[in-house]
Amino acid sequence: MFSVTCVAPVNIALIKYWGKRHEDLILPVNDSLSMTLSTNELCAKTTITASKSFEHNRMWLNGEEVSIEESSRLTRCLKEVRRLALATGSQKVSPSWKVHIASVNNFPTAAGLASSAAGYACLVYSLARLYEIPFSDELTTVARQGSGSACRSLFGGFVQWHRGVLDNGTDSVAKQIVSSQHWPNMHVLILVVNDQRKKTASTRGMQNAVNTSTLLHHRADKVVPERINQLREAIQNRDFQTFGEITMRDSNQFHAIAMDTYPPCVYMNDVSHEIVSFVHSYNNAMGSLHAAYTFDAGPNACLYVLAEHVPQLVDAIQKVFPSDLMDSAEYLRGLP
Ligand code: PMV
Repeated sequence: MFSVTCVAPVNIALIKYWGKRHEDLILPVNDSLSMTLSTNELCAKTTITASKSFEHNRMWLNGEEVSIEESSRLTRCLKEVRRLALATGSQKVSPSWKVHIASVNNFPTAAGLASSAAGYACLVYSLARLYEIPFSDELTTVARQGSGSACRSLFGGFVQWHRGVLDNGTDSVAKQIVSSQHWPNMHVLILVVNDQRKKTASTRGMQNAVNTSTLLHHRADKVVPERINQLREAIQNRDFQTFGEITMRDSNQFHAIAMDTYPPCVYMNDVSHEIVSFVHSYNNAMGSLHAAYTFDAGPNACLYVLAEHVPQLVDAIQKVFPSDLMDSAEYLRGLP
C-alpha cells in the first residue's frame, strides 16, 4: 500500500477564461492569466492511497463519497495520469491498482472561489507523485481536463494558460510567467459576500455564453491577446497602476459577457456592485490606484493590494461595510 498527500492552492484569474472551443478536452477560446495564492490559505488537500487489495476506485470530497464513474472528468484525469505513468513513471505503484482518494477544501466549495481549480490541480499532482511522474507541461493538460482553470494552480506566482491552436489540445498548457518572489508584496484580500453554491455552474454558463453572446467572440479575438501582453509587461515591471486597471476592466468585461448571454447569467449581487463603487471611490480619494477588484463566477470579491496599503484599505472597508463581511476577509500572499 502506498499513500501520498499534497496541497494545492486556489488561483484567481486576472484575465478570465470563459468559453470553450472543445467541451470534452476543455480547450478555451482565449488565453487566461492568474495569480496563485499561498498554500496557507484557500487550498485543497488530497490524500491518495493505492493498494493491490482495493477492489474499486473510490473518492470522498469533504468527507462525502462521490462516484468517480459518474464523473467523466474524474475518470478522464485518472485515465490520463495512468497513461503518463505507463510512459514515464516508475512502476513502484502499479497503475492497475485501484485508488482511494480523499480530498478536502478548507473553504466553501463551488461558491465562485475556484474550488475546482485547487481540487483538480491537487488530484492530478498527487497522482503524479504517487506514480513518480516527472513534472512537465503535459501534466497541466491533464489538470485542464478536470477543470480548465486547474491547470494554472500547478504553478505558484503568475501563470498564463495558453489556449493553443491544435485540435488535440497538446499545446493548451499552463506556464509560469514569474514566481511570487518577483512581486512579494502583492496581496489578495477576499471578501466573502456569499458562500452558497453558485446559481449557474461555470460549465453551463460558458456553454450558453459561447452560443449566445456576441461580446464573448469579440473579446476572445480582439481584446484578450493585447490585454495579455499588457498585463505580462505590467507584472514584469511591477506596475500596479496598469496591473490594477487591466484586472478591473477584464472582470467587468467578463460579467458584461455574462449579462450578454441569453438568458442572462448574473453572478454579482448588490453588495458586489457596492464593492466595485467603493474601490473606484477609494482609488480616487487616494489619488492613484491602491486596490483592484476582480470577481469570478460568484458574488465574492478578490481585491489585489500591495502590502503597504493593506491596513489603510482594511480600515476603509470596515467603515463602509458591515463587520461580517470583514470578518471573512483573508489576506493572502502568493505561492512561490
Ligand atoms: O475552470 P472552471 O470551469 O471552474 O472555470 C473558471 C472560470 C473563472 O473562474 C470565472 C475564470 C478563470 O479563468 O478562472
